[in-house]
Amino acid sequence: MAPSQNNPIGVIDSGVGGISVLKCIRAHLPHENLIYVADSKFAPYGEKANEEITRRVLTAFDFLNKQEVKSVVVACNTATAASIQIVRDKFNYPIIGMEPAVKPASLMSKNKVVGVLATSGTLLSAKFSALLEHHGNDIHFITQPCFGLVELVEQGDLESSALTALLKKYIDPLLKEDIDTLVLGCTHYSFIKPAIQKLMPDHIKIVETGDAVANYLNHVLIEKHLLNENTALGTTDFWTNSLDQNAGNVIAKLWGGDPKSFNYKGLWI
Ligand code: DGL
Repeated sequence: MAPSQNNPIGVIDSGVGGISVLKCIRAHLPHENLIYVADSKFAPYGEKANEEITRRVLTAFDFLNKQEVKSVVVACNTATAASIQIVRDKFNYPIIGMEPAVKPASLMSKNKVVGVLATSGTLLSAKFSALLEHHGNDIHFITQPCFGLVELVEQGDLESSALTALLKKYIDPLLKEDIDTLVLGCTHYSFIKPAIQKLMPDHIKIVETGDAVANYLNHVLIEKHLLNENTALGTTDFWTNSLDQNAGNVIAKLWGGDPKSFNYKGLWI
């Protein structure tokens, strides 16, 4: 059955990182009903095999399909690299993925030295290699896998000394190479942008993808005649499978948005 305009949009991630993208979607599309699914019990995806990530992604899609979504945003660079083609081949509604903002960064960089922070899964993927090949010809890209950051953000830690020490370990080598642009290639890292900025000189530009993805989703919905024409504010439902008692508080803290549109639903699986 073809999806209808009033149906919700699903947004998935390995955990809470995709909420950074959800916020951009909410800002671009105030009238849409959004369903966020965090697979936190299985986070991080960053060092898992593609087959395992794909199994998890398909489980989240199963859940969303029962809610008759009209579109899904895979708000996770790692999951996109591992499984976007598989889900696009399987389901016949628009599926939007994420990839590190290599192209905009290559256009923005003046000295042509760009750092990329992402998970090892994203950096080692064929999709990422292809991205560098297409857009990175005259650019020196320095890629840095950031083990351990996703776990801290999952706990709601956006500024502890442990987080700062880990970030310093990852950012210092990039500073030594004189980067003037830094790509945040994992949706979790958007939440620690202030902590990252504190460790870098002001002239270094940070590039993220959430806004571009929300803008693209808007265009796709218009093109496919799927935009919700309601004038009321849309609902935002949050589902997790984290057994941590604090999970709801972490989600509320990261969402930080209008409480009128915040609806914590609890466990999805
Ligand atoms: N938010 C995911 C991404 O964008 C995090 C991946 C992970 O769970 O390791 O890559």
